[in-house]
Amino acid sequence: MTEATIETLAGTAAAPVVEDLARLRVTVFREWPYLYEGSLDYERGYLAKYAGLERSTIVIARAGGGIVGASTALPMESAEPELQAPFLAAGLDPREYYYYGESVLLAAWRRRGIGVAFFAAREARARALGFKVGTFCAVVRPDNHPARPADYVPLDAFWTRRGYAKAPGLTASFGWRDVGDAGPSQKPMVFWTKRL
Ligand SMILES: CC(C)(COP(=O)(O)OP(=O)(O)OC[C@H]1O[C@@H](n2cnc3c(N)ncnc32)[C@H](O)[C@@H]1OP(=O)(O)O)[C@@H](O)C(=O)NCCC(=O)NCCS
Repeated sequence: MTEATIETLAGTAAAPVVEDLARLRVTVFREWPYLYEGSLDYERGYLAKYAGLERSTIVIARAGGGIVGASTALPMESAEPELQAPFLAAGLDPREYYYYGESVLLAAWRRRGIGVAFFAAREARARALGFKVGTFCAVVRPDNHPARPADYVPLDAFWTRRGYAKAPGLTASFGWRDVGDAGPSQKPMVFWTKRL
């Protein structure tokens, strides 16, 4: 049973939550498999894009007077060129795709159905906006990576149950600085898609 309230905002209504969202991203993405050494300044810039678009989506989970989780999406045609590039290279039209940026939920609020609600909210908005396919990308880390927690359960099964499948031909490479590293490194990413 979900104890948090889920609210779907168009990006242009999301300015008041950008600061909370930036903090959530930095906190949650420090964890495996992202290991992201984030900065609030970078996050504010990244999120400004979402907050500037009428057709973007920010889904908020509120509880106890605060924001405990959030999830974002935007039209692929408005996403960074390196996200669109694999689709263009594969002869696919980015205008058909709604791209999910992330879901981030404080650990204490997991396993209550909020992650499922985030998918439902983004898909509902994608359909309402007329998009044919939902997509997101996930980082690929080696199984023997030293920072992988022994009890980590990959999200692949969760995504598969939501109806998404890996699109093996659609891959990208993103660079960021891992926690504990001196500088950024490139990470392989694979896209998942679902016809809506
Ligand atoms: C990904 C994330 C948002 C998922 O959110 P969540 O609210 O924990 O997910 P849900 O509770 O909706 O569902 C997760 C699965 O766990 C199951 N589950 C729920 N409660 C459970 C419990 N007590 N025990 C075991 N499984 C449980 C759900 O049934 C669901 O499985 P399903 O696919 O069969 O429906 C959250 O784990 C998170 O923030 N992770 C870190 C960041 C991240 O990896 N983000 C995703 C990529 S950007």
